[in-house]
Amino acid sequence: MKKITFYSQRGGVGKTSILANLGAVMAMNGKRVGLLDFDLISPTLGMIFEDSLKGGTLTDALLEQDFNLNTIFELEDVTKGIIGKGSLYVIPSKHDVLSIAKVLRDGYPIIRVKKVLEYLEQHLKLDYLMIDTHSGLAEDTIFALSVSNLIFVVFKPDIQGLASMKAILNLFSKFKLQTMTIINMATNSDVEKNIIEEMEHYCGIPIVEEIPFYPDIFQNKDKKLLAFWQPNHEFIQHLKNITKMVEVMEIV
Ligand SMILES: Nc1ncnc2c1ncn2[C@@H]1O[C@H](COP(=O)(O)OP(=O)(O)OP(=O)(O)O)[C@@H](O)[C@H]1O
Ligand SMILES: [Mg+2]
Repeated sequence: MKKITFYSQRGGVGKTSILANLGAVMAMNGKRVGLLDFDLISPTLGMIFEDSLKGGTLTDALLEQDFNLNTIFELEDVTKGIIGKGSLYVIPSKHDVLSIAKVLRDGYPIIRVKKVLEYLEQHLKLDYLMIDTHSGLAEDTIFALSVSNLIFVVFKPDIQGLASMKAILNLFSKFKLQTMTIINMATNSDVEKNIIEEMEHYCGIPIVEEIPFYPDIFQNKDKKLLAFWQPNHEFIQHLKNITKMVEVMEIV
């Protein structure tokens, strides 16, 4: 099971949207894929699948005293076999205020996260586990990065993000983490082009895809998974390019 973590220094850059749809595209290509919401303090992954999710949450698995993954994760394949040979399993985190407050107040032993990862590997036989994280560098995000086979850093090319991105990418390359950058919400302005150019020169970390800003995605009120409902959308075409690259590369 290859673990692919999605990271961003700043919030709201499209990590969760890209992760969920990329996982769905991989499942459509016949892979067994898990999506894990490891953004325990502002989780949104579950909202995209709200109607269809069965089984427990990562929050329960990490916080419940009576720790039994078999009862917590009775997961169902959300594709229900309708989109091809692959499977897509979603492990959300709880997004109600009390649950988030409990995570912040009580914390959880990191060993439980390791157990969850082992469980998913053994029971679901996943090809890929896509791990969503909270933006910035918190302890749990650092843990996720440290166990990953590949990290996608998602970057919205604006001036405010540039300095912090440089620092983070430098850090990742020092620790020899296999890292790639996805530019999201690009508007093709001259300022942006300069920022992207500077990123490329400074960091030496490949930019694998530049995804434009799509107003219809931003305004999408029902927040359903685009890969299932509009599989020919340009946004999904960009993710197909990333999928091809992931499937042929040697991820160690
Ligand atoms: N290329 C795009 N064009 C337009 N809107 C986009 C694009 N990518 C994502 N969005 C929208 O931007 C918003 C933020 O996306 P998303 O929640 O995926 O970001 P995030 O990085 O996971 O945020 P957070 O840091 O809060 O977890 C959502 O409303 C999403 O639909
Ligand atoms: Mg998110």
